[in-house]
Amino acid sequence: MLREHRAATAPFHYRKGELHAEAVALNELAVRFDTPLYVYSRQAVEQAYARFAQALAGTPHQICYAVKANGSLALLRLLAKLGAGFDIVSGGELERVLRAGGKPETVVFSGVGKREIEIRRALAVGIRCFNVESAAELERINAIALGMQKTARVALRINPEIQAQTHPHIHTGHSKSKFGIHAGFAEQVVRRALELQGVRLVGLTCHIGSQITDLAPYTEAWRCVARLADRYAEFGAPLEHLDFGGGFGIRYRDESIPDLGEFAAVAREVLGDRELQLLIEPGRALVGAAGILLTRVEYVKTTPYAKLLVTDAGMTELLRPALYDAWHDVREVTPGTETALYDVVGPVCESADVLARERRLAIGAGGLLAIMDCGAYGASMGSNYNSRPRPAEVLVDGARVELIRRRETCNDLMALDILPDER
Ligand code: LLP
Repeated sequence: MLREHRAATAPFHYRKGELHAEAVALNELAVRFDTPLYVYSRQAVEQAYARFAQALAGTPHQICYAVKANGSLALLRLLAKLGAGFDIVSGGELERVLRAGGKPETVVFSGVGKREIEIRRALAVGIRCFNVESAAELERINAIALGMQKTARVALRINPEIQAQTHPHIHTGHSKSKFGIHAGFAEQVVRRALELQGVRLVGLTCHIGSQITDLAPYTEAWRCVARLADRYAEFGAPLEHLDFGGGFGIRYRDESIPDLGEFAAVAREVLGDRELQLLIEPGRALVGAAGILLTRVEYVKTTPYAKLLVTDAGMTELLRPALYDAWHDVREVTPGTETALYDVVGPVCESADVLARERRLAIGAGGLLAIMDCGAYGASMGSNYNSRPRPAEVLVDGARVELIRRRETCNDLMALDILPDER
């Protein structure tokens, strides 16, 4: 079978013509847990983390996993045990990290719209620092910290105005972006931070986008941040760290991705002999390839123009194709013999609910498909649109399978609704 090429040691591989997650047949998981189902490989997460840790060995660093990629408590706990800190963007993500056993002092808090209640809670539990995105936010954090008789550790997020080659929706470092403080304006914010009694400036940070497959924009952005750090040190801003953000791309199709060692070499070179700790905030590169979405073909529908596989998963489970035109590999769990060209479509009442177009697949009604590389921004971007309960999620470790999120029920969907007294 041409698909057996994936090494048997890869987290998702074919064995005797059947797709497996580690040592577990996906067919069995579908019977046991029903579909659609998110399936994660523990080994894949561990391997991805180890690759980062190896690439950065010898450089004082902290890997802050970007929780938004996948906030599953089980995955957060696993990553915390591996040594990860966390990059959060909301109070909800902070609570997830704490519940999973993550240490507050390893948490950095990013995002342009931090609310007062979120800042208060983060200060109370003692996070490592706030990645401040505006002068107004700096003032707010200062006032709250003074009121709580605390000093907030802050890093300024610099917008280096770089054009990274990625989808416009996930590209954040350019001049018109809402993110960060534009490099040219940062100095006055730094000066203000040094005046304020409730904050302590400990770092600079930048994040220029996601699914970046090229070293050049990183080099440019990181150099910009390092130059600013030198400049600010001259007027008395002794920084502890530089945070180079996340965005490291993964191979969904045929993208050529620089080796993590190359990213690390650039980071090291930019840091030079500055005595600063390096922080990075990878999300996708840690969990993207570790998850698949398992879905059953409900119908094969033939129109005058196309053959459609109508699956029980759609844009509610995996939004990326509808939102970004993202390409995910689609594999038959048990490939048949006769192939045809299909569009894979979900059941949601939206024309955008197409998971994949023009894929050559050997499958029929009732067959199972695995949408690959869904570990990042899959479950975390899911929704209940069309009143669809969210799928269950399982974590596979060798031959062991753990349910890490139960399937939602229709009662769950209505649990927060309130029917006022009838009038
Ligand atoms: N740090 C910050 C401040 C971020 O905004 C992000 C992602 C990350 C780190 C992690 O980026 P990663 O290493 O995962 O690329 N939903 C989109 C991706 C949005 C990314 C938003 N920010 C997608 O599905 O492709």
